[in-house]
Amino acid sequence: MQHSTRHIARILQLSDSHLGPGRDFKLAGINTYQSLGQVLKALPDQDVAPELLAVTGDIAGDGDEAAYHLFNEVMAEQPRSFAWLPGNHDDFPLMRKVLRQPFRRVVELGNWVAIFLVSAQADEVGGHLSETELAELADLLHRYRDEYVLLFMHHMPVEISCRWLDKHRVGNHGQLAELVARCPGVRALFAGHVHQAFSISWQGVGVHSAPSTCFQFAPGSDGFELSEQPPGYRWIDLYSDGRLKTGEGFVAGVEQQVDHRCSGY
Ligand SMILES: [Fe+2]
Repeated sequence: MQHSTRHIARILQLSDSHLGPGRDFKLAGINTYQSLGQVLKALPDQDVAPELLAVTGDIAGDGDEAAYHLFNEVMAEQPRSFAWLPGNHDDFPLMRKVLRQPFRRVVELGNWVAIFLVSAQADEVGGHLSETELAELADLLHRYRDEYVLLFMHHMPVEISCRWLDKHRVGNHGQLAELVARCPGVRALFAGHVHQAFSISWQGVGVHSAPSTCFQFAPGSDGFELSEQPPGYRWIDLYSDGRLKTGEGFVAGVEQQVDHRCSGY
């Protein structure tokens, strides 16, 4: 009997919005509230398949409570369901208190499952997966051994040829690699933090980063360097036979200009 391949779901990944305490907050010359709105408007029209927004951290630029209230307001207008995880600029305990959408560890999408992991640690820029996090992941990979699995986290487990950002990659990536290598159901891993689109194969799975919804970093840079690329997002299409397609989308015709005098964020 022949089974036809069905489009199971579309995930739209939003990352590194760096919202500030007010709508007029600017970082590196970019009004981050405005650029998040532009990205949401630029998302492809809703398809017949269910859609999920996956928000991969650094929602706030500085763990500000007011930034999370702003995020609540923005997302209240979204017709799509969403899930989020914290980044190094976020305050995870505060997010759990203030964000209207509770932290979701797992989102099931047909015969696929998206697992949200916390790689950010308090007061550290770099990524790390705690023993608890790894143990929960191992349990979930066992529970969902018959499904196709996607992993989401803030930090990349791989290097992307940006020396200053590569220092922040998940420190214990070896432990993650062992888990991933043991589970053939894991199809891809999606991260943020690096403010640029990047894709590579790792442990037999695709590892992809998303552009930021505000400013982008220059690919191949040794130190902090901004690029002229506009705000963007990543799209991920999932199919019933375990295939996936992914790519990036950018906002066209943005008027905001990054401030190259900025030397950090
Ligand atoms: Fe980050």
